[in-house]
Amino acid sequence: MQINRLSDALGAEIAGLDLSAPVDDATFEQVREAFHAHQVIVFRDQRLTPEQQIAASRRFGELEIHISTRFLLADHPEVLVLSNRKVNGEYVGVENAGDHWHSDLSYKTNPSLGSLLYALEVPEIGGDTEWANQYMAYDSLPQATKDRVAGLRARHTFNRLRNPRVSIPEHHKGEAAQRYATLSPDDAIHPVVRIHPATGRKALFVSPRFTIGIEDVPEAEGQALLDELFAHATRPEFIYRHRWRQGDLLFWDNRCLLHLACRGIPPDQIRHMHRTTVAGDIPY
Ligand code: SIN
Repeated sequence: MQINRLSDALGAEIAGLDLSAPVDDATFEQVREAFHAHQVIVFRDQRLTPEQQIAASRRFGELEIHISTRFLLADHPEVLVLSNRKVNGEYVGVENAGDHWHSDLSYKTNPSLGSLLYALEVPEIGGDTEWANQYMAYDSLPQATKDRVAGLRARHTFNRLRNPRVSIPEHHKGEAAQRYATLSPDDAIHPVVRIHPATGRKALFVSPRFTIGIEDVPEAEGQALLDELFAHATRPEFIYRHRWRQGDLLFWDNRCLLHLACRGIPPDQIRHMHRTTVAGDIPY
């Protein structure tokens, strides 16, 4: 097994590991260490059935069943399909997943530890994903801002209708958009800065997709602070951009990263992926 860094900001490629077969405990511990050191780990040239992806993902923890139940694999609800393929005029997977910077499931009381995305089909153009290192974002804040955000808590929601910073996809408009509130009705309140339970490091934990306000701070002041934090959190030096190859399996840490699906796929090209999501703890 060989570990090669992918950028100054984050990311490492792990070569020489076939995840379709069981991984022994000693090797798995090396993988976990690499995950904590590099935040995104990339396994190339994998050939995984849904069962094998689920088994590999379970090594990292319990799996979530996503709230977008329409796009779960029928026999394997742990797998969420992300796809721009249409059959009979309907998408076969979530088409707009990750269209704004976010950390997976931060709208829940216990957001995700990490997500695994497996590329079954990739387009020739577009479809990249970016990750932004939120340890670096926190560490590089001016001391005055660190003091200002210490102890603050923010409100997160799944509901796009309550978040003026995000768009409503065309195929969600009207009645479909009203479903946002029923899919995940309760807001989650999380610290603006969280401590990573494995590394003990501080990371910014707000995102334009899910964070809609700061608790106990006047609305205009809270929104101005969020604007400032969002602009800072995604500075180019914190980012790794991944160009997908078929057979890539990526595992990323939602506790210290934001990510963004860059889109830009020509209408005649297909990007079809399987995501599994590892459950996480309540942030502190
Ligand atoms: C996601 O946000 O989980 C999806 C990211 C991507 O499709 O690139």
